[in-house]
Amino acid sequence: MVQLHDLKFTPFISEAEINVGIEKVAAQINADFENKTPVFLGVLNGAFLFAAEVIKRFKGDCEVNFVKLSSYEGTGTTGKVESLMGLTSSLKGRNVVVIEDIVDTGNTLESLDRILKSEEVNLYKIATLFYKPASYKKSLPIDYVGMEIPNDFIVGYGLDYDGLGRNLTQVYKLKNSKMTNIVLFGPPGAGKGTQAAVLKDHYNLKHISTGDVFRYNIKNETELGKLAKAYMDKGQLVPDSITIDMLKAEVRQSTEGNGFIFDGFPRTVAQAEALEEFLQEEGTQVNAMIALEVDDEILVERLLERGKTSGRPDDANELVIRKRIKVYYEETAILKQFYLKQDKYFGINGVGSIQEITARLKEAIDQLV
Ligand code: IMP
Ligand code: MG
Repeated sequence: MVQLHDLKFTPFISEAEINVGIEKVAAQINADFENKTPVFLGVLNGAFLFAAEVIKRFKGDCEVNFVKLSSYEGTGTTGKVESLMGLTSSLKGRNVVVIEDIVDTGNTLESLDRILKSEEVNLYKIATLFYKPASYKKSLPIDYVGMEIPNDFIVGYGLDYDGLGRNLTQVYKLKNSKMTNIVLFGPPGAGKGTQAAVLKDHYNLKHISTGDVFRYNIKNETELGKLAKAYMDKGQLVPDSITIDMLKAEVRQSTEGNGFIFDGFPRTVAQAEALEEFLQEEGTQVNAMIALEVDDEILVERLLERGKTSGRPDDANELVIRKRIKVYYEETAILKQFYLKQDKYFGINGVGSIQEITARLKEAIDQLV
């Protein structure tokens, strides 16, 4: 994450992806302007990096100009007059390639179009690294597009937020500060998995189950996975720091979505504090701990029922089931206190049909979003 002035931005487009866009545009311009001695017009400030990369890749002769679009109030009825600042020679009869960093509404393009026509250029084409089709309101064609992006505010690779961020080598997007992060709790058999799947789709959240993340990392033999396995093989608990590092990697990986459902994490106050600190660094927070509350006798009944088909030995034996439920309450009571103190604990009646329980959960979550 980067912070510029008052706003936070998260990684969005990598250097490698930017390079793909640059290569694509450069190849098209090379094909179209071979032997045409174009004048490249880089539009300052944002286009300086992109212009340099495209111009470096041009194989034939060319001229280079960097311009700024300036506008001033004309006299009388002329209204706003736009001109190119920094133009060192006439463009009359020339083949011009305008290099833009980003086309958003297209207002800038429209001004450029007017100016270039009045300059009586032979022809001109527009190249832009980024293009926001959802925001574009004009009909002027954009000839070369590095990549289309959604209607997010981005910084980096030439683009700024209030003057800052142009030197970032990759692109970041404005953080959605309205993220919703939920810690989902519930004893074994409470229906966490079932409800998490529904909520995740309804609210566009990412479901992170630490158990799944462990299994994934171990299976793929990542550095973290190897570390964790070393402890697990010795029958020891994986230390908090490793679990937290895994979780951080998961959270950072997913830049889409409106937030997270954490499942199986945190399990200790130390983990809850680490999560708090980490999410704060990311510009967000835990909004709620939501616990599915189900009477012990019903849990036992449900798990015994599940045991008939799940094949899980820990579901088959009533004593084992009761022990698991007891451990759950012992383990989580302290976390319930932790989130209660922050006014973030929501106990939800977990008895009823799946739809009824989903409706109760939504009612609680809708207060948060
Ligand atoms: P237009 O709306 O197409 O005229 O774009 C005008 C200018 O707005 C661009 O040249 C950029 O300077 C700026 N701009 C548009 N979108 C972004 C963005 O996501 N990040 C930073 N600057 C932007
Ligand atoms: Mg610009």
